[in-house]
Amino acid sequence: MTKYVINGENKLEGSVDISGSKNSALPIIAACILNGGKTNLYNVPNINDTEGMLEILKNLGCNIKKKGKKICIDSSKINKYDIDSKLMNKMRSSVIIVGAILARFKKASFSYPGGCEIGARPIDLHIKGFRKMGINIDESTGYIVGKCDKIKPTEIQLDFPSVGATENLILVSVFTDGETVIRNVAMEPEIEDLQNFLNKMGAKVSGAGSNVIRIIGVKKLKEISYTIMPDRIETGTFLTYAAMSGGNVEVCKCNTEHIIPILTKLEESGCRIYNEKNRLALIAPKRLKAIDFQTLPYPGFPTDMQSVFLSMLTVAKGTSTVTENIFENRFKCVSELSKMGAKISVLGSSCVIKGVKRLHGTIVKAADLRGGAALIGAGIKARGTTVIENGDFIERGYDNIEFKLKNLNIDIKKIKEHVN
Ligand code: EPZ
Repeated sequence: MTKYVINGENKLEGSVDISGSKNSALPIIAACILNGGKTNLYNVPNINDTEGMLEILKNLGCNIKKKGKKICIDSSKINKYDIDSKLMNKMRSSVIIVGAILARFKKASFSYPGGCEIGARPIDLHIKGFRKMGINIDESTGYIVGKCDKIKPTEIQLDFPSVGATENLILVSVFTDGETVIRNVAMEPEIEDLQNFLNKMGAKVSGAGSNVIRIIGVKKLKEISYTIMPDRIETGTFLTYAAMSGGNVEVCKCNTEHIIPILTKLEESGCRIYNEKNRLALIAPKRLKAIDFQTLPYPGFPTDMQSVFLSMLTVAKGTSTVTENIFENRFKCVSELSKMGAKISVLGSSCVIKGVKRLHGTIVKAADLRGGAALIGAGIKARGTTVIENGDFIERGYDNIEFKLKNLNIDIKKIKEHVN
């Protein structure tokens, strides 16, 4: 088990390079199944979730080679289409691989995905879309088996702009003999990165970033190299830590176009931001102002930034309200922040935060990835020592966060405990 130990009250100071996007790398790694050949990926973040996705590909028969920052995936020898349920249960995003397997083999069997306990996270929209495309899905055994003779190009209206369902339905459509139109799709930047990746392989996908995506099926996809886009949530996380600690930070190798809602809210809370295309600087005020925000599908304020922002607002001047509209159980870090002296009351899908002058360090437990990141922010700000248990959650989505924070003047140590 991993623990993070932070001695607080240091300000973030210095410059940090952002890693590749976890939520872009995961669907793109899955999409490497499609060309039945070699794909070189660059800027893949070195985190547990990408390791998990690579494990699933290896289990299916792919050959994976890592050379420094390059990962070479050879999917020519895939010899099975049932996804190992232990690996599937490790993370929610494993479900994205199903679309790629169905597209290539017209059959797939898999279990319900696991993932962070931030909500029920059903996959009904994925299944409904697969069925609309003529794929027979049998859920009677508690295991899900999908198969068909032919995947039918069709028109699909998503009940909700689900990121995963959008990605899965794009992947399953790439080899049909016509045009598939998917409406009310997610517009997150990670969808555009997936579209760019597939089109570089020779697919014909258009509309990513809008609410309608069209996929014209092709016969084959080619071997390519591709560089994953920067992680917008990691960018927002470091900016928020700087804002919360009263510091100033330069963030490089990021894409500022992807984080407008986050920058807007940071400025509203009193931060000064100097913004160029792929780098920016933030100077925090002496004390942040309380602000209100709600999470929405992109281009609204991202749900993945909710916990970290909530943590920042615990020390702002005044009362803030936060509303979580995407997941039904994403306030799990509140109980832990309260142990550190935060004044937060949860009312259904909203919470009210009364800013305090100071937090104090203590022992706290991460319950999910972004909640863990929120506790790191609180530990940086708090007086005294904070020990964050279940740090493995944090390692799912942040590449070398301890090293990056140490370079930003933060007193943080990662302790790996071997639980026998
Ligand atoms: C992706 O998860 C991200 N994960 C999440 O990031 C992110 O929070 C989420 O999109 C929303 O932006 C990856 O990209 C790997 P959804 P996903 O399908 O695809 C409901 C992180 O911290 N829903 O857009 O699972 C669902 O329950 C992670 O990096 C259905 O009801 O999210 C949720 O309430 C956490 N039925 C809402 O839609 C379905 O079939 C949004 O889910 C699918 C989703």
